[in-house]
Order: sequence, then structure tokens, then C-alpha cells
Amino acid sequence: MYDKTTFKIKKDPVILGIESSCDETACAVLRGRKILSDEIISSAAVQARYGGVVPEIASRAHTEAVDEVTRRAVTNAGITFSDIDAVAVTYGAGLLGALLVGLSFAKALAYTLNVPLIAVNHIRGHISAAYLDDETLKPPFITLLASGGHTAILHTKSFTESVVLASTSDDAAGEAFDKCARVLGLPYPGGPNIQKLAEKGEANINFPSALVKNTTHTQFSYSGLKTSVINYCHTAEQKGIEVPKADVAASFQKAALNPLADKTVEFAVKYGINTVTAGGGVIANSYLRERLAKNCDRAGIKLILPEKRYCTDNAAMIASEGYNRYMIGDFADMDINAAAAIPLK
Ligand code: KG4
Ligand code: ZN
Repeated sequence: MYDKTTFKIKKDPVILGIESSCDETACAVLRGRKILSDEIISSAAVQARYGGVVPEIASRAHTEAVDEVTRRAVTNAGITFSDIDAVAVTYGAGLLGALLVGLSFAKALAYTLNVPLIAVNHIRGHISAAYLDDETLKPPFITLLASGGHTAILHTKSFTESVVLASTSDDAAGEAFDKCARVLGLPYPGGPNIQKLAEKGEANINFPSALVKNTTHTQFSYSGLKTSVINYCHTAEQKGIEVPKADVAASFQKAALNPLADKTVEFAVKYGINTVTAGGGVIANSYLRERLAKNCDRAGIKLILPEKRYCTDNAAMIASEGYNRYMIGDFADMDINAAAAIPLK
């Protein structure tokens, strides 16, 4: 019988993490914070045919991949299933059917091995990717989170507590990249393709910044920027002028990303915090990484930028957040359900 109150906490636990909230089926094994293995099977190439993630296709792909990705992670970690001390899994936020595949699999594994099940908030996973890059990292720190589903600046106060300082009132930054890419005729996922195109252009078109002006709280909005890009392209087409796609990409990128990089460092200065970290797929963007680096350098702040593969969805970050929860014995019951939206816990 699984009883979450009976487990003892070990010093350097072997934690298996599972992630299935969107289109990546991922499994990783950590000993403490050290990554022993990190496997991903992605359905992004299939999703690209539809111009975005189709939830039912994602769920089916997870069902087909979860067993294999887990076996690979265990084998490549050089362990056996009996070495696992806990199973950490994303239970939200994300696509409900997709989450359920990983969560059900993790429950079965934890139950069979009789080890704790740890329910991980996907956003907290992105925050905890930074600990993988620097094992000595300790809160407090400020995190810029920018992905396909979320855009926020967070203040992490302890290993298990973060508060939101700023967020978006509509689309997430990654979503805006994906939508603008579609307008420019670029395939999904839009982010890397816009970045590549932007490198050949000039940021010489004045699109509205993603920073909302005249609010008491710092807030971002991507709908006005997106509409501006669409209008610019349509007007050019109507006039029979060729759309300067590389310039549009560069100008969009600047309007979308400058406020994120600038506000993040402003918050760190305001709160007297000397470390900034980042997470989420958009942090893979080289332009954003450079601007963050420049801003931090100027303010004398240490910047921890996880490797690109730990910025996009992965299971090592889920296991890393699992480690934080393991250390305080925050274990889940077997009746825990997946949730499409959850507050930051
Ligand atoms: O974190 P992630 O892998 O998945 C979640 O949304 O949780 O982020 C995916 C998002 C996509 O919208 C993708 O277009 C964006 O991250 N992205 C980028 C870049 N690479 C991925 N956005 C801008 N520049 C990039 N290089
Ligand atoms: Zn994510």
C-alpha cells in the first residue's frame, strides 16, 4: 500500500522526472542535482504539419513514447528501477490529456516501486532548471520565465516559494513568436525561425513594445504587437510592396524581448537581489540572452542562463524541482489529478 507519510528522506536521492505537459515526452534521472540521464521524444515535427500543437495528437504521441523514453532514461543513467528513490512528474499546467499520460505513468511507477510520488508545477520546473546549471545557486533570485504558455518575472524567495512580480495580460511571448511566424509564412515552432530570419534584418520598424504603459503593476501584452505585425504585412501586400520579412522579424523581436530583459534586471536592482536566472523556450533566443547578459553586466548582477536544452521543456528541470520538494517531504497522494491551469505553488 502506498502511504506518503511512511517515506524516509535520503541525502542524495535518485529522482526520476517525467514531463508530458505539451509536445515533448521527457524523462530524466538526477542524483541530487547531478543529471545522470536526460531523454526527450518530441512530437513537434508532426505538430508542425498543423501549424501548432494539436492536443489529441500530443496525447497519443505521449502514450506511444512514455514507456520508451523512461526505459532509455533509466538505462542511460546506469541505474536499475530499484535504485529510484522518488518519481517527480508534471501535474499542471498544460494540456490536460497530455498531462494525464505522464501523471498516470508516474503514479504506476511510484506505486510499483513504493517510492514517493512528487507532483511538480511546470512553471516551478522552469525556475528550477537554473539549479542544474549552477549547483551552488541559492534563493533569493529573480527569474525571467518566457515560454509558449507563460510569460512572467518571478521572485524566488526560498527553494519552494516564488512570487509573481510581472506577467502578461494576454498571449505568452512564445505564443506571439509562433503567431508572428505564421504571418511571415515560417513553420512552427516560430521562435527559432523568427530568430534566424531576424539575424538577416534591421530592427527599423516601430512596432509597439510588449510593455504595457501606465499601469501600477508591471504588465506585458502581446496582442497589440501581434496585430501591428499583421497590419503592417497586410498593408504592404495591398500596396504591392514586398514585405521586408527579415526587418519585420528583427523589429518584432526587439519589441517583444527588450522589455522582458530590461524589466527583469530592473526588478533585481529594485529588490537588491544579485542573481538573475531564466527559463522557458523563449530563453533559447540568442538576442534575448545577449540583452540579459549586457543588462546584468552593467548592473553588476550574476546571470545564470541554463543551456538551451534546459530552457525548453525537459524532464531534468522537473526532477530538479522534484528534489526541492523531496527535501521537505512534499509528497503527493495517489488520487492527485492533472490540472490545465494551477497557481504557482
Ligand atoms: O518552454 P517551451 O519549450 O514550452 C512551453 O511552452 O512550455 O517553449 C516553447 C516556446 C515556443 O513558443 C517557441 O516558439 C519558443 O518557445 N521558442 C523561441 C525560441 N526557441 C523556442 N522563441 C524565441 N526564440 C527562440 N530561439
Ligand atoms: Zn514549458
